[in-house]
Amino acid sequence: MSRTAQIILDGKTYELPVVEGTEKELAIDISALRDLSGYVTLDTGYKNTGATQSAITFLDGEEGILRYRGYPIEQLAESSTFLEVAYLLIYGELPTADQFSKFEQDIRLHTLVHEDFHKILSGFPAKAHPMGVMASIICSLTAFYPEAIYERSKEYIDLTIIRLLAKAPTIAAWTYKHSIGHPVNYPNNKHNYCSNFMSMMFALPVDDYQVNPVVARALDKLLILHADHEQNCSTSTVRIVGSSKASLYSSVSAGINALWGPLHGGANQEVIEMLEAIKADGGNVDKYIAKAKDKNDSFRLMGFGHRVYKNFDPRAKIIKKAADDVLTSLGINDPVLDIAKRLEEVALSDPYFVERKLYPNVDFYSGIIYRALGIPTDMFTVMFTLGRLPGWIAQWKEMNERKEPIGRPRQIYTGATERNYVPMAQR
Ligand code: ACO
Repeated sequence: MSRTAQIILDGKTYELPVVEGTEKELAIDISALRDLSGYVTLDTGYKNTGATQSAITFLDGEEGILRYRGYPIEQLAESSTFLEVAYLLIYGELPTADQFSKFEQDIRLHTLVHEDFHKILSGFPAKAHPMGVMASIICSLTAFYPEAIYERSKEYIDLTIIRLLAKAPTIAAWTYKHSIGHPVNYPNNKHNYCSNFMSMMFALPVDDYQVNPVVARALDKLLILHADHEQNCSTSTVRIVGSSKASLYSSVSAGINALWGPLHGGANQEVIEMLEAIKADGGNVDKYIAKAKDKNDSFRLMGFGHRVYKNFDPRAKIIKKAADDVLTSLGINDPVLDIAKRLEEVALSDPYFVERKLYPNVDFYSGIIYRALGIPTDMFTVMFTLGRLPGWIAQWKEMNERKEPIGRPRQIYTGATERNYVPMAQR
């Protein structure tokens, strides 16, 4: 028998359907409530609102569980590759060898961008933050492929997906090269996805550049860990923009802007800047813990806390170990890693953080790895963008396939009630 929930308003009882997910998550479907009763529900920040039903990613914040299409993140990070995970997220199943080889080859064939991108890039000031440039250029792909606005056949959507995954690393690397005044590198089909990106980032015409396989594998793992995270701020943005039937490029561009914010993906840059500031201040971790606890101080411990994880962030566990492994393999001794570990230790034994269930999140250690790989600080959130692309694509595709209605929340108006216009001379 299907379950229902009862809600009593002004003495009248309304029966509302209860929805149960495959992992036994429960929700009250309130979509008919306003029509039935005149009431809407209010949930600022969507702390308790399911915006959709999705079969892509399962996350249990209490137990610290994260699975893509049912596969635990730990197994994928250990054994899979970023492109295989991308295929899994977007198409729902792990690819066969043939499916994967076609997917990878298709991506290889679309890594070039239109030569006019040189002109677009040169229009940005060199000091522009790369996230702003990325968002603009990804959006501009709609100008180069205008059919993406209306063409919704499966074949065309698949082509758009391939184009986006293939061109994003080229655009990211060119954004960086432009910012430092270096010539851009063209993609090279002999490389795999991550090696191609590293080579476009760091090769110079005057020298040979060999991609270190340790570096390429570490990057691949980081991208896997960032690949999807269900209905977070940027993904919800992608879905809501896409719900207006905006193209995949425009929707993802909106997601990039949402990710840029320091409370979301922008935190990875802020973490390193915070750790550097602590180091420059003599490594006094206690002082910064005290600042984070002080309600009169706006300082927050960046890389700590999560809306959903209230136990631990499974990605942070994997990244912490990866940071140790990568730095050891590359023979790097980064004092900032020691500061990060001390900060974590002190915070995890401090009642303020314990009571509020504040744990290191995915961004806490990722910047330390990016730095070890030679990625400049203001490119950290761009790296997150490259990782999150498959998730945004999968969510946009799912929303369109399910023909979800346009996203349009309600509000409770708290402004002035009706009043008459007062001419300026009388104010
Ligand atoms: N440092 C100090 N105090 C914190 C922190 C922090 N990093 N995070 C939360 N708190 C405190 C809040 O002040 C609040 O305290 P109070 O109850 O005494 O008022 C309590 O913990 C709850 O915090 P909220 O902001 O209400 O929690 P919310 O779920 O809305 O925010 C968020 C989650 C935005 C991630 C928050 O923890 C934060 O700002 N963290 C730092 C930024 C960060 O690392 N963001 C990356 C998140 S992961 C990602 O997006 C990929």
